[in-house]
Amino acid sequence: MPIAGPFADPAGMQEAHPAATKKVFVKTYGCQMNVYDSQRMADALAADGYGPTETIEDADLVLLNTCHIREKAAEKVYSELGRIRQLKEERARQGLETVVGVAGCVAQAEGREILRRAPVVDLVIGPQTYHRLPQVVGRARGGEKIVETEYALEDKFEHLPQPRRQEVRKRGVTAFLTVQEGCDKFCTFCVVPYTRGAEVSRPVAQIVAEAERLAEGGVREVTLLGQNVNAWHGDGGDGREWGLGELLFRLAEIPGLDRLRYTTSHPRDMDDALIAAHRDLDKLMPYLHLPVQSGSDRILKAMNRKHTHDDYLRLIERIRTARPDIAMSGDFIVGFPGETDADFEETMRIVREVGYAQAFSFKYSPRPGTPGADMVDHVEEAVKDERLQKLQALLGEQQRAFTQSLVGRTMDLLLEKPGRHPGQLVGRSPWLQPVIVDESAGEIGDIITVRISSAGTNSLFAGSTDSPSRAVEAKRAPAQEEAQMGVSV
Ligand code: 5AD
Ligand code: SF4
Repeated sequence: MPIAGPFADPAGMQEAHPAATKKVFVKTYGCQMNVYDSQRMADALAADGYGPTETIEDADLVLLNTCHIREKAAEKVYSELGRIRQLKEERARQGLETVVGVAGCVAQAEGREILRRAPVVDLVIGPQTYHRLPQVVGRARGGEKIVETEYALEDKFEHLPQPRRQEVRKRGVTAFLTVQEGCDKFCTFCVVPYTRGAEVSRPVAQIVAEAERLAEGGVREVTLLGQNVNAWHGDGGDGREWGLGELLFRLAEIPGLDRLRYTTSHPRDMDDALIAAHRDLDKLMPYLHLPVQSGSDRILKAMNRKHTHDDYLRLIERIRTARPDIAMSGDFIVGFPGETDADFEETMRIVREVGYAQAFSFKYSPRPGTPGADMVDHVEEAVKDERLQKLQALLGEQQRAFTQSLVGRTMDLLLEKPGRHPGQLVGRSPWLQPVIVDESAGEIGDIITVRISSAGTNSLFAGSTDSPSRAVEAKRAPAQEEAQMGVSV
C-alpha cells in the first residue's frame, strides 16, 4: 500500500544528511518508549546537521528526555539540570553556546514551570511534537525561550525522518518500534493519560514499513512498544479491524525479522487473537509483561483497573494453555491509599499463584492531578518500605528459581553484543536473560543454539564460557534497566 511521507521511499535511507557540524547529547530517563523517542529525536536532528556525542561537555545541544511516572524520576531531572547549569557557564567562558532542552513526560506535565525552576533551560518540548524539534532548536539558538507542549494536529511519525541504514546498524540487532501511544484507562495512580494523552495507534502500513527498514538494516528482533500496547488496533487493509495479534502475524512475514516481543500490556486487552499468536507464532518470544499492580480486589477497584484477582489468574491460565513455557513478568505497587495488611497479603498471594520470572515493584508515589493523590488514607512511608521489602524478597526468590530452572536446557540465543570481557559475546535468551558465550560461538546477529551450563544472578552461561570466575556476568544495558522500570500499564 502506498504511504505518504518519508516512509514512501526506501532509497531515502541512503539520503545524504548534511555533515554533522554540531553535537547533541541526549540523556534518556524512564521507559523504552523514551529510548525509542530519543533515537527518533536524534534522527530528526541528524537531518539538521547534529551528530550524536556521548560527552556532555562537547555538546552544543543537551536534551533530557524525561520520565514523570514517580516523583523520584521527575526530581532526578532537576538535579541533573543543576549540573548542566555549571557546564553551560563553563562552556560560555570558552565562548561556546549550549542549548538546553527538556523533552518527555516532565516537559509535557510541567511545561513553563520548568523554565521558572531551572532558568538554564532554553526549550521544553512534549512527546507529541518531536518532529518540530529542529525548528524549535533553531529558534532557541536565536535566544528565544520556547515551550512546545500543545498536541500536534499532524502525525508526528509521518514527519519524523527514518534513521539511515548505517545508523540502524550502529544501534544493534535489536530495536524498539513504537506502535501505540497514550492511554484511555485512567488507573487512579497513573500520570500517563495526562502526559501522553489519549490512546493513538499508528497505522499498519507505517509500522510494517518501519519494521522492514529495520530488518534491511540488520535488525533481527523488534520489540513493539506502547503505554498500552495490546490496545493497539488498526485497519488491516483486508476489510477487518486488526488487533495486536494480527499485527504480529503480519510482522512475522518480514524476512530477517526472527524475533518479536511487545510491551507493555493491560490484562483487559489480552484478546483471543493475541493469545493465539502466542500459541501459533514461533517468532513471538515466550515472555509477557502483564502488570497486575495489586492482588486485592478492593485495591484493584480503587485503582480503577477493571479486573479482579481471579480475572487475572484465569487469564494467565489461558495464556499458559496456549504457550506453556511463557515467562510472566509484572509490575506491582505497594501502599496505594487504603491498602491494609490484608490487602497486601492478597498481593503476596497472587505472586505465589502466578510465579513470576521477573517483576518490578514500587512504593506508591502520589502524582499531582491523578485521583489517587486526592484519596484519603495514605499509607505511611515506613509501612510501604516494609511491604516493598517483603514483596521484593518473594519476587527475587521466584526470579532466581526461574533462572536456575534454565540450567541444562537447550535454547536459541540471539547474539547481541560483545561481552564485558575479551573473548565473550552476550546473547539473549527467549525469556530475556543475557547469556554469556565464547566469541567463537558465532557473530553478532546470529541466532545460535546453546546448552545452558550455569546461572548467575541475572545472567546465564553457555558453552565453553561457563566458569563465572572467567565470565563475569554481563550487566544489562542501563537504558534497558531503567526502561523496564518506567513502562506503564
Ligand atoms: N506510584 C508508584 N508506581 C507507579 N507506577 C505507575 N504510577 C505509579 C505511581 N504513581 C508503576 C506501575 C506501572 C509502572 C511502570 O510504574 O506499576 O506499571
Ligand atoms: Fe494506562 Fe497503564 Fe497508566 Fe493504567 S497504569 S492509566 S493502563 S498507562
